[in-house]
Amino acid sequence: MAFLNISGLRKRYGALEILKGIDLELEKGGFLVLVGPSGCGKSTLLNTIAGLETITEGDIRVEDRSIADLHPSKRDIAMVFQSYALYPNMTVSGNIAFGMEMRGVPAEERKQAIDKVAKVLQIGHLLDRKPSQLSGGQRQRVAMGRALVRDPKLFLFDEPLSNLDAKLRVDMRTEIKRLHQTTGKTIVYVTHDQIEAMTLATKIAVMKEGIVQQFGTPAEIYNNPANMFVADFMGSPAMNLLSGKILKGSNGLAVSLERAAGEAMKLPIAPGMASLAAYADRDVIFGIRPEALTDPEGADRNARSVAENDCLIEVVEPAGSDTFAVTKLGGKEVVARLRADARIKAGETARLAFNLDKAVFFDPQTQIRIA
Ligand SMILES: Nc1ncnc2c1ncn2[C@@H]1O[C@H](COP(=O)(O)OP(=O)(O)OP(=O)(O)O)[C@@H](O)[C@H]1O
Ligand SMILES: [Mg+2]
Repeated sequence: MAFLNISGLRKRYGALEILKGIDLELEKGGFLVLVGPSGCGKSTLLNTIAGLETITEGDIRVEDRSIADLHPSKRDIAMVFQSYALYPNMTVSGNIAFGMEMRGVPAEERKQAIDKVAKVLQIGHLLDRKPSQLSGGQRQRVAMGRALVRDPKLFLFDEPLSNLDAKLRVDMRTEIKRLHQTTGKTIVYVTHDQIEAMTLATKIAVMKEGIVQQFGTPAEIYNNPANMFVADFMGSPAMNLLSGKILKGSNGLAVSLERAAGEAMKLPIAPGMASLAAYADRDVIFGIRPEALTDPEGADRNARSVAENDCLIEVVEPAGSDTFAVTKLGGKEVVARLRADARIKAGETARLAFNLDKAVFFDPQTQIRIA
């Protein structure tokens, strides 16, 4: 039995169903990230775990015991909110110790707990300051400290980094990862940032409109997206999703992609994707990530099926460590990720290598992955 088990969970406000049957589980010490666009129900799901929202149907179990009817204070769960309201008149140590004080924890014990948490979060030098004398990232760490001193069974984070600027977000992301590694705590974390999800999670649940679209490890979600929504949502720049047609020839299967001018491009389909034979002469959506579409010198040497083609480059975007190039295929703009020093010019033709081991295919009607 998993440490946290959510089964058949539904949440309705009157006739409006916000969570439409959620099934998830998390092992002890795991880091579950709930990711999805605004309004998909991430916070609502987190709040039902915390007990801040009731559930309409289904169950939430921690260590095989239902917590659905437990008062929030009895759940042994600590939550860090997006707006980490600290008490402005109290010092950092006062803020961290407040809950313990309320529970009548003796002063010496409080001090030890504060020192321990301050060390983990590296805020020892800030303990006597007031929140107004702290940076955003430091305040965020104090808010985490407040949750951490409680040493609960389960931590819930609701977009804790969304108030921070880009650089600080990245730093704090590393801090949270370190915190998880050193404490081994079980965490459920909400974000709409797919990079945060990929870097922090041991398990990701990608949500859309109150439904979990896919639940798996970051690698599973990235490499084997269950449908077009997941493929498009996870990864930056996003996966190229192009209209194509499956052709069956004497040399096996191929996918044909319309070019802006001239004959369609035909890419051989890797032998492992025989299931696509059922789609012969039919339209499909061909998915290829920018990093699987490179200059030939930059192509993955371990790839078994790579096809090179000349493509008219419309835009070149140097990004420091890589260069992105835009071409057009299947009636859409396609982003290729080249080495920084790849010689390429807008308006000219360049040879691009398609790593077809990494290609994925979707049914255009159902949007579900077919190979
Ligand atoms: N008390 C309520 N009554 C009715 N609808 C609500 C209530 N609370 C939330 N909702 C709706 O439920 C949906 C999910 O909201 P929720 O806050 O869980 O989304 P979210 O995924 O956390 O979004 P965000 O990324 O913007 O924080 C939204 O459409 C919201 O308007
Ligand atoms: Mg939210």
